[in-house]
Amino acid sequence: MFGRIIVGRRYIKIILLAVVLIPLLHQLIVLITRGKEHTGYNIPKLQDKVPTLQGVNDYFKNIGNSAQNATETPDDIVDAGEPVVIYPDVSDPEILADLPYLKADGSLNKYFFSKFVDHDDNKKARKVFQENNRLYADYIMEPIDEPKVDNLQRPSEDYKLANATLLSLVRNSELDGILSAMEQVEAKFNSKFHYPWTFMNDVSFSKEFKTKVKAATESEVHFITIPKKLWKKPIFIDKDLEQKNIDLMLANGVGYADMESYHNMCRFYSGTFYNIPHLQQFKYYWRVEPDTKYFCDIDYDVFKFMQDNNKSYGFNINLYDGPSSITKLWNTTMEFLEEHPKYLNPNGAFQWLLEDMQNPEKNQIAGYSTCHFWSNFEIADMDFFRGEAYSKWFEHLDNSGGFYYERWGDAPVHAIGLGLFEDKSRIHFFRDIGYHHMPFTNCPNSDRCDCEAGKFVPWFSVEKENCMANWVKYGMSEDEKNMF
Ligand SMILES: *[C@@H]1O[C@H](CO)[C@@H](O)[C@H](O)[C@H]1NC(C)=O
Ligand SMILES: *[C@@H]1O[C@H](CO)[C@@H](O)[C@H](O)[C@H]1NC(C)=O
Ligand SMILES: *[C@@H]1O[C@H](CO)[C@@H](O)[C@H](O)[C@H]1NC(C)=O
Ligand SMILES: *[C@@H]1O[C@H](CO)[C@@H](O)[C@H](O)[C@H]1NC(C)=O
Repeated sequence: MFGRIIVGRRYIKIILLAVVLIPLLHQLIVLITRGKEHTGYNIPKLQDKVPTLQGVNDYFKNIGNSAQNATETPDDIVDAGEPVVIYPDVSDPEILADLPYLKADGSLNKYFFSKFVDHDDNKKARKVFQENNRLYADYIMEPIDEPKVDNLQRPSEDYKLANATLLSLVRNSELDGILSAMEQVEAKFNSKFHYPWTFMNDVSFSKEFKTKVKAATESEVHFITIPKKLWKKPIFIDKDLEQKNIDLMLANGVGYADMESYHNMCRFYSGTFYNIPHLQQFKYYWRVEPDTKYFCDIDYDVFKFMQDNNKSYGFNINLYDGPSSITKLWNTTMEFLEEHPKYLNPNGAFQWLLEDMQNPEKNQIAGYSTCHFWSNFEIADMDFFRGEAYSKWFEHLDNSGGFYYERWGDAPVHAIGLGLFEDKSRIHFFRDIGYHHMPFTNCPNSDRCDCEAGKFVPWFSVEKENCMANWVKYGMSEDEKNMF
């Protein structure tokens, strides 16, 4: 009897222990798995973040060559005048003395481009990230409304459009994705202004595509088949060398390294799209990708904003790149600069490109920060790309074969071109255009927007790919800082 009581007590103890321990264990498991979500297991490789990826395979099968004619463009548009490009007179010693990136004899000062001004050996990348992350959070959470300029243009009767088009490279199979993006751009912006749309494809658009897209807007719509010479791989690319490099890139986890059409697309958006005959008539474009989201009401004309405030490029997300896809891009650029130092803009965003503290491994592999404007959204002036500096540099890049021997994306190419050859005061952060392209978001703290303010990416461990803080510190002019 006594024995049975003892056994009973032990039994009670076990039950009590179980009652207390099981929920504790459960709690622990929940914590561990939640931790996993946040520390970035199952995160897509960053090299794979570039837009227009899904279904690329289907799209580029069966490349045809069926030219289509453009419809007429509206003739009632405002003339923006001739592009102004002034290079510093580097033969003048006084001017030269003020340019730290050139030597006294006018040649390139390579040392300038190998050193980030705020480099600090004693500061850990982790700490820099924490500071930058805080800076970004404070910045993006500041309540904003529209840009604080006195020349915003509102829709009105007999409104004259700027010289601009909405622009999209899209496959027939992406119809639903582009309709979804169009619907938002129309609702938030374009139904108020009626800018024309231009759709580009390397094969002809299907009847269904054209009918449905036309029905999604009251604006004019143009369907363009990209001329082969602006799209296809140049004939000088060495097949053996290309294959060798593709194998190397695949081994380094560079997504789509073996997909020729993907390289074609990157080269096209880097340096040839603005030469499409149909696009010659336009100055500005707004790039719209399938399956993107637009969260904020825009009640002013963004193209006129660019024109009237002397902007040539607008973006809304700043990211580091996967350096293994661009190991030679910076060196190839330095070769060009050695030959043509005069193209460098005295007010370029050099330090933004040279920053090496938040993710030093990027610089170790690629030779520069890899920070870029995420180009699946951009509102820009094609005359910058058509200008002498950018187009000569693009030709140099193209001749090196890097679009095929590596997988240079149009985002890093645009960003280096802008950072070196454009006045940084002409680059605008459209922080009021709330935007999402998987997995990154720009969401301002504004009553005009329907999104979670300040949210950048769903996974904490990917936050360190955000280099927006560097743009705030090294790219923004005073006017830009006070813009909102
Ligand atoms: C394109 O324009 C040319 C010349 O105006 C015309 O001959 C041709 O039929 C047009 N093609 C299409 C597909 O409309
Ligand atoms: C629009 O811009 C393009 C490129 O700068 C230019 O060639 C064209 O003449 C412009 N059109 C008008 C009407 O100003
Ligand atoms: C636009 O900006 C560029 C570069 O800062 C400058 O050279 C030019 O004079 C500006 N143009 C106007 C109209 O303000
Ligand atoms: C780039 O150039 C530097 C300096 O000339 C050199 O040390 C480095 O190996 C080059 N990197 C690549 C990837 O070619």
